[in-house]
Amino acid sequence: MSPQKQPQSRNPSPLIDNFGRPITYLRLAVTDRCNLRCTYCMPPEGISLLPREQVATFEELERLVRIFVELGISKVRITGGEPFVRKDLLPFLEKIKKLPGLNSLHVTTNGVQTARFIPQLKKIGLNGLNLSLDTLRPERFYRIARREYFERVWETFRSALSYEIPLKINCVVQRGVNEDELAALASLARDYPVEVRFIEQMPFDGQKRPIHNPVQYSEIEASLKTAFPNLRKLPRTNGTARLFLIPGFKGHLGIIGGYSRCFCSACNRLRLTAAGILHTCLYNKNGVNLLQLLRAGASDGELRKTVFRMVTSRFANGQQAEAASPNAPQSSMASIGG
Ligand code: GTP
Ligand code: 5AD
Ligand code: SF4
Repeated sequence: MSPQKQPQSRNPSPLIDNFGRPITYLRLAVTDRCNLRCTYCMPPEGISLLPREQVATFEELERLVRIFVELGISKVRITGGEPFVRKDLLPFLEKIKKLPGLNSLHVTTNGVQTARFIPQLKKIGLNGLNLSLDTLRPERFYRIARREYFERVWETFRSALSYEIPLKINCVVQRGVNEDELAALASLARDYPVEVRFIEQMPFDGQKRPIHNPVQYSEIEASLKTAFPNLRKLPRTNGTARLFLIPGFKGHLGIIGGYSRCFCSACNRLRLTAAGILHTCLYNKNGVNLLQLLRAGASDGELRKTVFRMVTSRFANGQQAEAASPNAPQSSMASIGG
């Protein structure tokens, strides 16, 4: 069968960027709203939110995701803000999950409102849930997230486990805040089949503040090694996390050097914000607004060409992307989608 005649679901034109990296992963932010106010993500008063009319509708997002999948995207991660603050997320996920060519659908959530959706997420075949959890102490949770929702997040943790949805824990390591809790958090992987990932704090807190003396990858690794001398590094994958195992543990540990950016040479991802702006790197602000093009009547072919143009003009790594867009680190992770 000639390439032209292949059905769209076979991904006839795989996306390869200008550095030869296959692009197979889309991070889709469905909202910039959030029900927490984490100190590493936004100021206490929150961030200025997108006006409702600038947020892509689920119908618009569905069309955009279909186009990405036809271009070769096989993994979609739903992010926010907090995805579950958006009404009718479940029917949207159900539709996306059925797109031919989409192999895996994931959600990153803070877990505040997620527990009650777990049975439905299981039913639609969600491939994995990444849950933010920076501490196991309720009073510390309040200090970090500025809301008293620890119990709800813990309920999401327990429910995802009981429904056997593959679960990863995201813990942003903050100097003087939770760096003393790494061993306790890592022990979750001893007791449960979860991947506990420690993340370098990145400068996306919606304020013009450099991070003072951030805890680096090497420090995190050293501190885990001290607590668990049996820690063994696993071979590198094309994900953001460097994985480790400890004999006898049910799950794994990971470290995400989001600030060091040591994984860019295998970067396979694109990001679409809730406003429909396509970014080819977390550290670059200069995206293209696909939603505006779509609303102006662009055809699928025109949208595909725009995606292709963006993909073939990527930066080599996050450092170069940042240099080309020096204001990017002032954004909030909630508006970029993590
Ligand atoms: P998997 O798809 O399970 O590998 O998850 P993920 O780590 O890509 O996504 P998640 O939403 O759980 O994000 C975990 C952390 O990784 C967050 O702090 C993200 O901001 C960060 N992160 C995700 N993608 C990138 C990336 O491309 N570059 C950098 N620097 N950080 C990223
Ligand atoms: N640095 C690193 N990770 C962050 N996240 C949010 N803000 C930051 C930051 N400044 C993480 C959250 C969530 C994921 C999407 O991004 O913990 O799990
Ligand atoms: Fe990709 Fe940019 Fe993240 Fe590096 S920093 S992995 S290039 S998105």
